[in-house]
Amino acid sequence: MNIKGKNAIVTGGGRGLGKAVALALANEGVNVAITGRNEKNLKDTVEEIKNIGVNSAYATFSVDDEAAVKKGIESLAEQLGGVDILVNNAGIGDFGSIEEMPSETWEQVIKTNLFGVYYAAKAVYPFLKEKGEGDIVNVASTAGLKGGGNMSAYAASKAAVISLSQSMMAEWRKQNIRVITLTPSTIASDMSIQGGLTDGNPEKVLQPEDFAEWVRDILKMNRRALIANGSIFSTNP
Ligand SMILES: NC(=O)c1ccc[n+]([C@@H]2O[C@H](COP(=O)([O-])OP(=O)(O)OC[C@H]3O[C@@H](n4cnc5c(N)ncnc54)[C@H](OP(=O)(O)O)[C@@H]3O)[C@@H](O)[C@H]2O)c1
Repeated sequence: MNIKGKNAIVTGGGRGLGKAVALALANEGVNVAITGRNEKNLKDTVEEIKNIGVNSAYATFSVDDEAAVKKGIESLAEQLGGVDILVNNAGIGDFGSIEEMPSETWEQVIKTNLFGVYYAAKAVYPFLKEKGEGDIVNVASTAGLKGGGNMSAYAASKAAVISLSQSMMAEWRKQNIRVITLTPSTIASDMSIQGGLTDGNPEKVLQPEDFAEWVRDILKMNRRALIANGSIFSTNP
């Protein structure tokens, strides 16, 4: 399907996976608005997107603040002239044992990764409902499919995102909204490299561009086709 002229919002679009997705969609002719907390990254990325020749805008807010998410999404929807696609990508990875991780950190991971996805989807839904169709891509993780040592907060948050996303799909597909739950394995980014999960070697390890091409291709499928769930792994890291 040609997605040229559609309007997308990518949360966490100023760096990492979100930035790669924003640029890949812009290269398809999609107008892309991005969100995050770091205004400089957002401004620089908006410039890159505009240089591709599409419309772009940004909003600065933390996804754990419902009122700020709603205000930011509504402002971006107005600037773009509507929303067709939400990529719910913003997230944090904090790793450590259950015993040692402070409860505040544990709560913040859940608040950012789970509530962030919920707030952004809830804010975008009225625009998709009004249009009579749309797409929501929720970025979970293979960590959400199975918990493991030193990742209790992250794995629990992503397991909850998978479940939330499945509920969204059940409720919203009747309005022609495709809710897509993605569970990528380790991809080279600030999160995975600083978290010690990978050295990010581009010869072997998935790069943000690989993830972005995958998301782009899923969104380009004929609207009758819904990729409900999907995983992506490095072949031989
Ligand atoms: N990399 C991997 O191996 C991997 C694997 C599976 C799933 N994922 C998931 O993919 C998504 C992107 O991860 P990444 O690897 O690109 O991580 P990253 O490089 O650390 O980037 C995280 C992004 O999320 C935004 N963000 C974080 N906390 C936020 C908050 N409270 N409010 C608003 N924005 C916030 C950041 O923007 P600001 O800095 O501007 O706030 C940044 O754009 C995450 O949901 C992650 O869990 C990653």
